[in-house]
Amino acid sequence: MKGPSPALLGLDTLINIRRDQLGFYADMRARFGDTVPLRLGPYRSWLLFHPDQIEVVLASKAKKFIRFERMMKVLRQWNGESLFIAEGQSWHDRRRKVLPAFAQKKMPAYEAVFQQVAQDWVKHLSEKADTEGNLHLNADDIFAQIALDIALRTLFGGGFSEGMDQVSEHIKVLSKVAFRECASPFTLPDYLPLPGKREKKAAMAFMRDLVRGLVEDRLKGPAGDDLLQVLIETHVGDKQEICDDAMSLLIAGHETSGAALSWIFALLADHPAALAKCQNEVARTNEVQEMDYLRAVVDEALRLYPPGYTLFLRQATEDVDIAGTAVKKGDLLQIIPYMTGRDPRFFVEPNQFRPERFLTEPTWPFFANIPFSAGPRACTGHQFALKEVSIIAAELLRAFQPRLSGAFPAPEPKFSLRPQNGLPMIWEHR
Ligand code: HEM
Repeated sequence: MKGPSPALLGLDTLINIRRDQLGFYADMRARFGDTVPLRLGPYRSWLLFHPDQIEVVLASKAKKFIRFERMMKVLRQWNGESLFIAEGQSWHDRRRKVLPAFAQKKMPAYEAVFQQVAQDWVKHLSEKADTEGNLHLNADDIFAQIALDIALRTLFGGGFSEGMDQVSEHIKVLSKVAFRECASPFTLPDYLPLPGKREKKAAMAFMRDLVRGLVEDRLKGPAGDDLLQVLIETHVGDKQEICDDAMSLLIAGHETSGAALSWIFALLADHPAALAKCQNEVARTNEVQEMDYLRAVVDEALRLYPPGYTLFLRQATEDVDIAGTAVKKGDLLQIIPYMTGRDPRFFVEPNQFRPERFLTEPTWPFFANIPFSAGPRACTGHQFALKEVSIIAAELLRAFQPRLSGAFPAPEPKFSLRPQNGLPMIWEHR
């Protein structure tokens, strides 16, 4: 199996990834095929591009892999030992406890919150339109705030809007720090008086106090009808466990949904025929489950621009055969939904926005399109997120005609995949 020749223990690879991460992956696949060995400091690492290999790592031999401990150490700083971070039996127990929060029977209550948030934002944004009814905005920022609003209301109940700007700013800092620290070979300790460290510590303290305060209030007060209540019941009052999982759902649950909405709107604004079809659909029905075309748009946007463009690095806990490749204990495995979702062997015109491909039975292998990952560690919020982005998109499309202010944005790999330089748009009141 051939890969790039390692210079300086893979420092050149790290530099290339930093320079143009998505371009680097495309170049590796074009030059070396489905299986690319790389050196990353002391580790041997593999890029795996074929769905058969992905199936082995995420599903059939999932027990032989953990998430790379170095990355988890970064996230554990504020996510604690949450569902997102835990491994082995501890992860298994937590997943079992958190899953009831996403059961089908809970969805109607969340959907009511999505509708309410959508209406509140339509009203709020309508008030900001200029005299001609146009709104000039960075839609990426707006979607981040809407997704945060939803995360806060579904987790902690209503009445939170006053402090939201502050929460949003602190989460932005944490997301930036997490991306930087996960991508660095080592992290300098927080006690050093370095730029960014004070900001990070303040953001961490703010978020911890916020979540702890909300959890303590709820433990003292009456029960609610939200995600937090399910966490309290399943963790049987263990405050630390409740706080850790609440924090991880808050963070996991909104970055990605906000990014998904940005790409849906960017793509629709760039494809007037698809936009018109969605608008006809939302005019015809209020029921989001009847909006087949909008659902196909959401799926296609997630295929082209999966917010989780690369999964967390996995590490083999024993020697293992991955569809013919002998991987050693300690090796790292990288799976990149952004690449597999655009593989020309499985998708016709893979780089084109063609929602119609999702209106019929899939013609691609299941593991080729995994915006929510797959297997036992797949996203617990999958159905929640699909409903959330569909309801928000439907309400906004009913109220506004979105237009891009400039060129279609390039994707920028941050903690999730976001439009580079935001998403300047003009939304015209309809
Ligand atoms: C469009 C929106 C979303 C996308 C694209 C997305 C994507 C993903 C992906 C790719 C993973 C797996 C990461 C990996 O294994 O490397 C994941 C895990 C997870 N997601 Fe989501 N997610 C979304 C929304 C949500 C929401 C709304 C919630 C909760 C409210 C959520 C909660 C979680 C949790 C708890 C995990 C960890 C599961 C585990 O490790 O067992 N996600 N998500």
